[in-house]
This record gives sequence, C-alpha cells and structure tokens, in this order.
Amino acid sequence: MNAIFNRTSVRKYQNKEVEAEKIELLLKAAMAAPSAGNQQPWEFYVVKDKETLKALADASPYGGCIAGAPMAIVPVYRTELMMPEFAHIDMSAATQNILLEVVEQGLGAVWIGIAPLKDRMDKVAEILSVPDSLVPYAVIPIGYPVAQANPHDRYDESRVHYEK
Ligand SMILES: Cc1cc2nc3c(=O)[nH]c(=O)nc-3n(C[C@H](O)[C@H](O)[C@H](O)COP(=O)(O)O)c2cc1C
Repeated sequence: MNAIFNRTSVRKYQNKEVEAEKIELLLKAAMAAPSAGNQQPWEFYVVKDKETLKALADASPYGGCIAGAPMAIVPVYRTELMMPEFAHIDMSAATQNILLEVVEQGLGAVWIGIAPLKDRMDKVAEILSVPDSLVPYAVIPIGYPVAQANPHDRYDESRVHYEK
C-alpha cells in the first residue's frame, strides 16, 4: 500500500484550507478502523479556529506545529466501554487510519501524543470543553505540506525472526 510507505510526519503546512469533503474522508477512514469487540470507542473534534489551534499547540511541549496548521482532528474516546482496557489500542488504529488517508488526499499531518499523559489530556479536554464522558487521545494537525518529504525506509532484517 503506497500510503504506508509514503507517509512521513509533516509539521509545516501551506496557508490553505482543507476541503470539507477531504475532512469527511479522513473521518470515514478513522471510523473504518478495527476495534476490540467492535466497540468503536471514538468521537472526533474538528478544530479550525486559530486561537484554539494555538491553545492546543501549548498543551504539549512537542505540539508547536499545531499552531501553524489550518485544522486539526482531535480523536477522543468514550469512558463507558465494554472493554475500556483496549481503548488506547483502538484509538491508535483509528489515528493511524487518518494518517494514511491524509497521504491519499495529498495532505500532510503528524500524530501529537496526548494520551496517556494526564496533564496533556486534561489540558486538551479543557481547551475543547470535552465532557467527562469523553477523553482526548491525540491531536492531529493537518494541512497541505509546504515541502514534499522523502519517504523513510526502516526495514531492518535483523528485527525479523522466521520461526522454522
Ligand atoms: C504516539 C505518538 C506520539 C507522537 N507525538 C509527537 C509529538 O508530540 N510531536 C511531534 O512532533 N511528533 C510526534 N510524533 C511523531 C513521531 O515523532 C514520528 O512518527 C517519528 O519521529 C517517526 O517519523 P515519521 O512519522 O516521519 O515516520 C508522535 C508519534 C506517535 C506514534
């Protein structure tokens, strides 16, 4: 799958809006992810307001690039779940699906880690007025990339163990 091998983290974006149809495709990709017991713990905040993006950038020491993005998707998960212990794993699959669809749409994005760090989760929840029934998982700033990055090749045969 080309999107897997072409994906790189993109932290600089053009001053250009992401079309509503593309945002919807990203959200559809997220919700197509597998989840434990098909519990689909996810909901998504779509953020475009500049001040809110700046506040989200300040919610993590490594989130500076969010301030320069035209938008961000903030995946959150429900607290009332059949298998809450799998929530972060499910959310990870949904987040990666967004990153891959981003590549398909000619966009760029990066996964800004929020969960499981409570201080970052609390800050994001406060900024977005997330209700207690939902928990912030990550922030994904998205936009048209300023530059085309070279894909990485990290294949390392020494990490593979073929069992006879
Ligand atoms: C759970 C997780 C948290 C991450 N958090 C950040 C972050 O806070 N800030 C950032 O700039 N990149 C973050 N990244 C992106 C990684 O730095 C990046 O994926 C890694 O350096 C590999 O580069 P690549 O994505 O271009 O392959 C995160 C990635 C993951 C999976």
